[in-house]
Amino acid sequence: MLLHMRMTLTIAFVLFLAKLVETHRAESPRLAFTDKDTRLRRIALQHVIQNNHIRLVEDGKERVIVAADQYLYSLDFDKEHGTTVAPLQSSRSRCEGGPTDKPCALNITVLHKRNGTNQVLMCETSETGTTCCNRELSPSAECSPSNSLKDIASTIKEYRLSTGEPSVFTESSGRDYLYVTQSSTENSIGIYKFGPKQVRPTAPENEPKYLGLAAFTGTNKMEDKLYAFFKERNTAGGLESDMWTPFVAQVCMEDEGGPKNKLQYQWTSLLKARLFCGDKASRRHFSELVDVAFHHENGTLSRVYALFHNEWGVSAVCIFSIDAISKVFQTSSFKGNKETVPSPRPGACEQLRGSADDLLKRLSFVQNHPEMDDRVFSMNGPLLVSHHHKYTHIRLHAVPNQRSDRHILLYLSLESGKIHKVLENKTGGFIIAEYRPFGDKTHILDMIVHSAERKLYVSSSVEVVQVDLQSCDKYGQRCEDCLLARDPYCGWNTTHCADKSLILQDVEKGNHSNCPSWTGHKVYEQDKTHAVPLQSRHFLRCPITSRHAEYTWHLPGNATTACLTKEHQCDLLIDGMGPEKEGVYKCTAEELGYTRTVVVGRLLVERKGTQAVPASAGLGRYGGSSAGWLVAISLLHLAAIFVVQSTA
Ligand SMILES: *[C@@H]1O[C@H](CO)[C@@H](O)[C@H](O)[C@H]1NC(C)=O
Ligand SMILES: *[C@@H]1O[C@H](CO)[C@@H](O)[C@H](O)[C@H]1NC(C)=O
Ligand SMILES: *[C@@H]1O[C@H](CO)[C@@H](O)[C@H](O)[C@H]1NC(C)=O
Ligand SMILES: *[C@@H]1O[C@H](CO)[C@@H](O)[C@H](O)[C@H]1NC(C)=O
Ligand SMILES: *[C@@H]1O[C@H](CO)[C@@H](O)[C@H](O)[C@H]1NC(C)=O
Ligand SMILES: *[C@@H]1O[C@H](CO)[C@@H](O)[C@H](O)[C@H]1NC(C)=O
Ligand SMILES: *[C@@H]1O[C@H](CO)[C@@H](O)[C@H](O)[C@H]1NC(C)=O
Repeated sequence: MLLHMRMTLTIAFVLFLAKLVETHRAESPRLAFTDKDTRLRRIALQHVIQNNHIRLVEDGKERVIVAADQYLYSLDFDKEHGTTVAPLQSSRSRCEGGPTDKPCALNITVLHKRNGTNQVLMCETSETGTTCCNRELSPSAECSPSNSLKDIASTIKEYRLSTGEPSVFTESSGRDYLYVTQSSTENSIGIYKFGPKQVRPTAPENEPKYLGLAAFTGTNKMEDKLYAFFKERNTAGGLESDMWTPFVAQVCMEDEGGPKNKLQYQWTSLLKARLFCGDKASRRHFSELVDVAFHHENGTLSRVYALFHNEWGVSAVCIFSIDAISKVFQTSSFKGNKETVPSPRPGACEQLRGSADDLLKRLSFVQNHPEMDDRVFSMNGPLLVSHHHKYTHIRLHAVPNQRSDRHILLYLSLESGKIHKVLENKTGGFIIAEYRPFGDKTHILDMIVHSAERKLYVSSSVEVVQVDLQSCDKYGQRCEDCLLARDPYCGWNTTHCADKSLILQDVEKGNHSNCPSWTGHKVYEQDKTHAVPLQSRHFLRCPITSRHAEYTWHLPGNATTACLTKEHQCDLLIDGMGPEKEGVYKCTAEELGYTRTVVVGRLLVERKGTQAVPASAGLGRYGGSSAGWLVAISLLHLAAIFVVQSTA
């Protein structure tokens, strides 16, 4: 009796779980790739990272440059060379003269690949200031000052930069500029410009944390703008107000600061506006900006994909168009302003210069009223909302398709060290797959997508892993499996799911109706007959591949049953085998109109004279001893399983 009650409760609980799984199906990755399903290459770093910042920079074929603490590495993942790590500088030579009992007092704070060269721009910050130089990417090379960098080097040298701050480096005919933010520093917090002209922030702000910086290139130089994305901690907040406010700030890149001798070196064009990610209807919103990724179209910054959290640990991705941002800066009223707005309007980059008087007027105006009244709303609602996955980084890849436009793939890292590959479609995000390059609970510190190679480089504090993103063969052997995957990298090539000569693909809908009918081997249930003892208890196990599919067990006599849904398999309980339960058991998966048989087998009662099927078929038993019968069934006891062979 008691056993029966416990069982009923357990089953009710399992059905409840199944319902939850159903509700959040759209939030689950369709497939989960284990480290065995993915081509991974790993390279261990050669020192223990002190602070939690690593910067990865793409460097040609299968190579990445890594900056961590004071170390710089070049990692080569090309198997021909044998994966290698070349330390480009050692702490000893750079830290000479420092106290020997202390760790090297140096951090690499800026790192950019120089266009078209084998060099990086590298800045190192010590206790006394920052030095920037050109660094050739070979182990014996030296850090050399260059003519084009001399203005950056001389304007930056007294500042101490922090690690993990975004920066933008622009090169144009010998006038190189470095824009970099400071979220916490003994100097002023904000956006800095170093180079032939120097501009720096003035007004102290509310504890901002800068998360992304991007340049917008206009049709002429005077229209070039720099956008900074950051969150500010709310200090004044009452109980109802959010802990954070997300912002975008704009400066004109040609801004050279105030007039000579008066507020020189201070931005005259700096404005900011709040961002809004959420549903206006349900009043749900996300206020903690976490990371941003930039999308360029025709070589120009066009959209920003922003990752948010809310106070309940829910993650969301919102898309902001540069048009919408720029419209707010051009048309909104200024927060708290009662005066007439100076003309030309502050923030209008085309009319940046003017008389010293004009400049001064504009400067004092933007210092008093830097914030816009209007907020920047995201395009539509959130692209993706996830209650179950806490995302930490966002990267993107615009994949050209056969019709001269693009599919956007997002890569989102999770707190647990996993990565989700998400397709942006018109109405939402479709989570194609989950990758697991690391063991559980590994913190991902940085990642970059190498678009041309279709590889992702992901770093923890001890290693960098290269993930091959085109595992098309892993989606399945059939055309339908391939199309349902909706992976822009993959399509059906008449025989396989592959990354080349794609004949059939439907990334938008996963419509597989044009697939040829399957001509591979069929399943014969008679081949898989298992005889089990009377009254014995078993689970029939059906492996789950697509978590977006509906799995059903078909029992003898046309009955069907919901499965005890778990992450990796759909189990059916045979609670006491008897003659009435003899027959064919079949598990099917249905997804967007495509039904396939996953496993099938015939179950018989073992009788005198009949031999049990050899254990090689994967037969396991539960409750063979009397002690076993007294154990209440709980999820922990689903150990002994009778597996009917999978038919792929
Ligand atoms: C890099 O250099 C190439 C030619 O050397 C040029 O076409 C390209 O626009 C440059 N890219 C940037 C970002 O400056
Ligand atoms: C290097 O970075 C770490 C962590 O951000 C910081 O604690 C340390 O003070 C920095 N060292 C120098 C010399 O700036
Ligand atoms: C990019 O160029 C294509 C064709 O030249 C055009 O159709 C499209 O609107 C452009 N996109 C943007 C954002 O300017
Ligand atoms: C986009 O993806 C969402 C979530 O998977 C799905 O519900 C929706 O039908 C898709 N829209 C289109 C047009 O494919
Ligand atoms: C399809 O892809 C497979 C695996 O990449 C390859 O072996 C096969 O030759 C391709 N078939 C065609 C017709 O391109
Ligand atoms: C799939 O494509 C076929 C033919 O191309 C079309 O008839 C059918 O309506 C499509 N199905 C869906 C669900 O869009
Ligand atoms: C099971 O269903 C099939 C087809 O749906 C039908 O032909 C058959 O008579 C049914 N059998 C029983 C026992 O209901």
